[in-house]
Amino acid sequence: MDRDMLRTLVVGIALLVGAHAGVIDSDEAFEGRFTGGASVTSLLETGYIVTIIGNSSLDGVNPTKCGGVIINTTLVLTTATCVFKMQAAMLYAGYQNVSANNSASNQTVYMVDKFINPNWEMNTGLNDIAMIRVYPPFYFNEYVYPIALPKSSVVKGDAVAKVGNLTWFSFGSINNTDNLTMDAMQFAKVTYLSSKVCNAFYIKPPYWFSVPTTMLCLNLTDVGYCNLDNGYPLIGYAKDSKTKVFKPFLVALAAQDRDKLCPQNATAINYHTPDLFTRIDASYKWIASNGGPSLQ
Ligand SMILES: *[C@@H]1O[C@H](CO)[C@@H](O)[C@H](O)[C@H]1NC(C)=O
Ligand SMILES: *[C@@H]1O[C@H](CO)[C@@H](O)[C@H](O)[C@H]1NC(C)=O
Ligand SMILES: *[C@@H]1O[C@H](CO)[C@@H](O)[C@H](O)[C@H]1NC(C)=O
Ligand SMILES: *[C@@H]1O[C@H](CO)[C@@H](O)[C@H](O)[C@H]1NC(C)=O
Ligand SMILES: *[C@@H]1O[C@H](CO)[C@@H](O)[C@H](O)[C@H]1NC(C)=O
Ligand SMILES: *[C@@H]1O[C@H](CO)[C@@H](O)[C@H](O)[C@H]1NC(C)=O
Ligand SMILES: *[C@@H]1O[C@H](CO)[C@@H](O)[C@H](O)[C@H]1NC(C)=O
Ligand SMILES: *[C@@H]1O[C@H](CO)[C@@H](O)[C@H](O)[C@H]1NC(C)=O
Ligand SMILES: *[C@@H]1O[C@H](CO)[C@@H](O)[C@H](O)[C@H]1NC(C)=O
Ligand SMILES: *[C@@H]1O[C@H](CO)[C@@H](O)[C@H](O)[C@H]1NC(C)=O
Repeated sequence: MDRDMLRTLVVGIALLVGAHAGVIDSDEAFEGRFTGGASVTSLLETGYIVTIIGNSSLDGVNPTKCGGVIINTTLVLTTATCVFKMQAAMLYAGYQNVSANNSASNQTVYMVDKFINPNWEMNTGLNDIAMIRVYPPFYFNEYVYPIALPKSSVVKGDAVAKVGNLTWFSFGSINNTDNLTMDAMQFAKVTYLSSKVCNAFYIKPPYWFSVPTTMLCLNLTDVGYCNLDNGYPLIGYAKDSKTKVFKPFLVALAAQDRDKLCPQNATAINYHTPDLFTRIDASYKWIASNGGPSLQ
């Protein structure tokens, strides 16, 4: 079990794309899980993201929090790390700001079943993916909707490097010692790190770690995985050929950080190791076999 498991309307994608370290004020940066990230303030851009709050026992011991994405009215995709201990869970969708009045948009549903990829290896993170069946079903509208899964060829291997506007979203916590979450969901533009470079980094001491083929790495300097970030999505954008609008699709889910170091503040250079995300394409068959969508 991974120790770090617990862990403005963005007026269209244009603003989202324009954001980078330095755009935000320092208060925000200090507060942000993503040093160098910024708050998502639109209810409309991230309606596929859910926060999962679970209990590892039915008497409420060890509550945990992580993220996932909606792929169907009754199915949420997340990591195995996120759910494997959960006996009960509530899932929130349709909100970007915990402090705001979200009553018009938010939806709360409950876990009624969970499916963990049977080929998950806890120690390496191979196939770290799971689905949660929820009840009642999500009611899809402008605030709550499913995320598209991309064609395998778009996200397979180093093809991810060509995905446009790779963006990571999370409600993750501020730092390693404090599991306070942000008021507002954070986003950060990120860069893919090739499998070869990532593996070359990890295969050496002190890691001696061979990156599972079902994972991808990000080249993060001022942004990084911390408590409560697990399961939140890495998103790519592609132009719809008909509408010419950039539409989001799921690339991967935040899975682990092997050095367990969160960036501590906005100016710290975060010399942590490349963070690891679970690839989705490797599990398409498994997703479909459990009632998830087949490819678009
Ligand atoms: C925060 O989460 C981590 C990882 O689950 C846990 O070890 C730690 O005890 C939590 N800290 C607090 C203050 O709850
Ligand atoms: C977790 O346990 C607490 C305490 O028993 C309870 O209030 C909460 O509703 C539980 N959450 C879920 C999702 O069952
Ligand atoms: C979140 O909502 C609170 C209460 O409405 C507001 O004060 C705060 O500025 C909001 N945060 C962001 C980042 O929009
Ligand atoms: C969702 O809305 C309900 C009221 O309908 C409110 O009680 C709850 O706190 C909201 N949840 C979130 C996460 O904003
Ligand atoms: C939240 O907004 C709803 C309308 O969307 C309103 O009926 C309700 O009174 C508000 N709640 C609070 C606590 O302001
Ligand atoms: C990123 O998105 C913007 C529009 O928001 C678009 O102009 C640009 O071409 C995109 N970049 C890539 C590499 O897709
Ligand atoms: C973690 O964040 C809390 C709340 O902002 C802060 O009080 C604490 O000093 C931080 N811890 C570290 C190690 O930065
Ligand atoms: C990672 O990002 C940094 C800063 O943007 C850059 O200097 C470096 O070349 C990148 N490394 C790789 C292997 O792409
Ligand atoms: C930020 O964190 C670094 C360590 O990563 C530390 O050296 C520096 O003093 C911190 N800056 C502030 C303003 O706390
Ligand atoms: C969700 O999955 C169920 C079972 O596969 C299917 O019948 C239903 O059409 C799907 N709904 C959506 C909105 O994709």
